[in-house]
Amino acid sequence: MALKITVIGTGYLGATHAAAMAELGFEVLGLDVQPEKIEMLRRGEVPMYEPGLEELLRRHVAGIEGSTGRLRFTTSYEEVGAFGDVHFVCVNTPQKHGEYACDMSYVEAAFDALAPHLTRPALVVGKSTVPVGSAARLAQRLTAAAPVGADAELAWNPEFLREGLAVQDTLHPDRIVVGVAGDRAEALLREVYATPIAEGSPFVVMDYPTAELVKTSANSFLATKISFINAMAEVCEAADGDVVKLAEAIGHDERIGKKFLRAGIGFGGGCLPKDIRAFMARAGELGADQALTFLREVDSINMRRRGHMVELARDAVGGSFLGKRVAVLGATFKPDSDDVRDSPALNVAGQIHLQGGQVTVYDPKGMVNAERLFPTLGYAESALEAVRGAHVVLHLTEWREFRELDPAVLAEVATERRVLDGRNALDPALWRKAGWTYRALGRPNA
Ligand code: UDX
Repeated sequence: MALKITVIGTGYLGATHAAAMAELGFEVLGLDVQPEKIEMLRRGEVPMYEPGLEELLRRHVAGIEGSTGRLRFTTSYEEVGAFGDVHFVCVNTPQKHGEYACDMSYVEAAFDALAPHLTRPALVVGKSTVPVGSAARLAQRLTAAAPVGADAELAWNPEFLREGLAVQDTLHPDRIVVGVAGDRAEALLREVYATPIAEGSPFVVMDYPTAELVKTSANSFLATKISFINAMAEVCEAADGDVVKLAEAIGHDERIGKKFLRAGIGFGGGCLPKDIRAFMARAGELGADQALTFLREVDSINMRRRGHMVELARDAVGGSFLGKRVAVLGATFKPDSDDVRDSPALNVAGQIHLQGGQVTVYDPKGMVNAERLFPTLGYAESALEAVRGAHVVLHLTEWREFRELDPAVLAEVATERRVLDGRNALDPALWRKAGWTYRALGRPNA
């Protein structure tokens, strides 16, 4: 009989995983402790913006016309325990307030709530990003609390999806990494992933600590790559070099590669910043802090980019923001997402506001979340309205919509024609032709 799957936590990771599992043909039950999220999902609505996810969900959510009916949602752990053979835990592990370490309370709460309902043999699979050592600890906690004891097994199966590309990354993963302590867990996960769609992805089996470390080290490498190119941008600015050309040229070397070398105002979001900090904190606990001191530099290069953008904007408006209108194009931490967690764009906007600038933000999908987080900033309903009357325009998230703007039209409504490209994504020639002074991070002024 086909395995029955449950997915605990319906954020970016869980909602996508649940829909993907249904797409692969499994009967799936998704759980969240927030009833309003569950209500939305039952109607086939996605609580966040993620391209392609709503369509995928609606193909499978029970009760939606024409759906396979394979995907259902609940708030009941009892129902989840009775239903599933394999339970994927997909809750988040945010950074603790005022500390580097990550907050494991959601993961722990999920395990504690699930365990008493494991009345038949089950495999619990952690997907959340956790400090190394967590899985071994959680496995003990699970077998102690589950009515079936050692028949409640644990595996760790980190997830590498990118927001904005979550559906594609989940259905066509680069690799499937599983950390296990026994053969049965490995066999069950091979069964889950032995589908026509995931077929062809390398399936790499290892122990718990290595699986946990694969995720944090992959994100650390990616963060390091971005901070490396941003450090080169700083040097380029000092030496009148061009970091965009530099990145292109070094990227031709296959050992370096072209990807993740876009210089700009740096990385943000719910993963990279908090993951490198939690990794440093955990290494400290393990007595291996020296191994990761470079990540402190990666983090500080990254944070410096935001400050630098603020300085460039201040210089552009004559040394003080007082009485100046600043248009901010972009609020999310990256395009094709509505996520504003640790967004460099909003951080820059907030700093300028604190320094007395009159900031007006526009973002194609992030407005609701941005207004909730930064209610004191100004917001406009379009890029054109944000730019109206501006003394400087800051391009801070590289949405396609911004690349397609006509700078000649914007020139008519701006007070001053100055644009700062914080993502190196606009076409300098186009903007200059329309009369704008264009400046980007790490590139000559021209
Ligand atoms: C990341 C990892 O890529 C993913 O594998 C992991 O599962 C979760 O964390 P995500 O947070 O969705 O995914 O975003 P990502 O595409 O990695 O971008 C992170 C940040 O880096 C964004 O703010 C982006 O603008 C920035 N970035 C990315 C750069 O500044 N330059 C680049 O070259 C690439």
